[in-house]
Amino acid sequence: MAMTCLHLKPPICTGTRSTRVPINVAAARACLSVDTNAVDPLKAVVAVGSQEVMEAEQKVMVGTYKRPPLVVSSGKGCKLYDPEGREYLDLYSGIAVNSLGHGDPDWIPVVTEQAHTLTHVSNAFYSIPQVELAKRLVACSFADRVFFSNSGTEANEAAIKFARNFQRYSFPDKKEPATEFISFTNSFHGRTMGAVALTSKEHYRSPFEPVMPGVTFLEYGNIDAAGKLIQSGKIAAVFVEPIQGEGGVHSATKEFLQSLRGACDDSGSLLVFDEVQCGLGRTGYLWAHEAYGVVPDIMTLAKPLAGGLPIGAALVTEKVAASIKHGEHGSTFAGGPLICAAALAVLDKISKPEFLLSVSNKGQYFKELLTRKLGANPHVKEVRGFGLIVGVELDVSASTLVDACRNSGLLIITAGKGNVLRLVPPLIISKPELEYAADVLLECLPVLDASD
Ligand SMILES: Cc1ncc(COP(=O)(O)O)c(C=O)c1O
Repeated sequence: MAMTCLHLKPPICTGTRSTRVPINVAAARACLSVDTNAVDPLKAVVAVGSQEVMEAEQKVMVGTYKRPPLVVSSGKGCKLYDPEGREYLDLYSGIAVNSLGHGDPDWIPVVTEQAHTLTHVSNAFYSIPQVELAKRLVACSFADRVFFSNSGTEANEAAIKFARNFQRYSFPDKKEPATEFISFTNSFHGRTMGAVALTSKEHYRSPFEPVMPGVTFLEYGNIDAAGKLIQSGKIAAVFVEPIQGEGGVHSATKEFLQSLRGACDDSGSLLVFDEVQCGLGRTGYLWAHEAYGVVPDIMTLAKPLAGGLPIGAALVTEKVAASIKHGEHGSTFAGGPLICAAALAVLDKISKPEFLLSVSNKGQYFKELLTRKLGANPHVKEVRGFGLIVGVELDVSASTLVDACRNSGLLIITAGKGNVLRLVPPLIISKPELEYAADVLLECLPVLDASD
């Protein structure tokens, strides 16, 4: 695909940022074959301009997010648009959330109809979409039961509480119940006080200490160290991501996960797979752990499950569920009818074997493409990944490249120590869109020379 066709001249509007390369929406559309029958994203152009939004944000928002100068006002498929109509190819997916892209034609009517029917009802009552979703998750996984939350961090909080409950309930004669946890280098499990305690990067934890005590961080993949500590009898649960996203796109080995399973079985510790980022089709398997042939006692899910609406879930075996009594955990919003109906629409699509196969194929194609196009550049150390979670490790910080790509109409994110590009496109992305992304990356690579 010729780069001249893909972007980005002449400007279609008056740019508010001098560094931004404006995008020729019509040309990009022609090249990327946007569905012209779909809702026109440019109709979403609103009176408020990007500059106005960014200035207002500075005044009224708590400064938790360091944002690049980009206001996103609409999306369709794998494209996002700013208020001025500039188009971006989205390989960011709201950090691996928008697996069906934006405005999926099967998801929208389900959500619209459920919004008309019933949006929220307290967990004090039964609700149909919640039970349906739980049935579906149980049917397509190792799990016997489901607890719903509103986010990934809350799903992990639930897993922490369930693990402690399980230990007290299952080993009542033990003088001191196992209450401690193992987590691993480069792990990310969330930002609430339990989940952040399991998150390896110190800067997420240290400003808020004391966080939950009793967490030991071991080297990801270190079978001996994990086996020894699990044997101590103090470990309530081992938390591990089969593929680490935030930590730099690192995949576990089969031997590592198998050895954790064996050690947990021997000692009575629980094995928790955090599939908040890597689960639900991203690897080309419905659940990432299927690729390893190892099942957990608890799996936590979140990001893509409701197609962009907030959800989390802890899927557990019967033995774990048996230790949880009424009132021991709960949530006001979690598992509401709207969210669960949305999640059913997502699960329906993603769990189809042909959908999963297409993710595998596209992932393989994308990795080969990136290796071929970028591999010769001396800054590129490795292209790795699994399905459509792909990492490109650089020998310098990736942030200048991320900025350059954004200015050229491609949204990507960093991971790890900031030297890894994380490419997590919507799972519906097309091969021409992947080619476009690889071409933009190739064209932008020279900015790394300035980082030498
Ligand atoms: C593996 C993993 N676990 C947990 C979380 C936390 O999820 P949330 O941001 O929904 O709380 C994330 C978020 O990036 C994640 O990648």
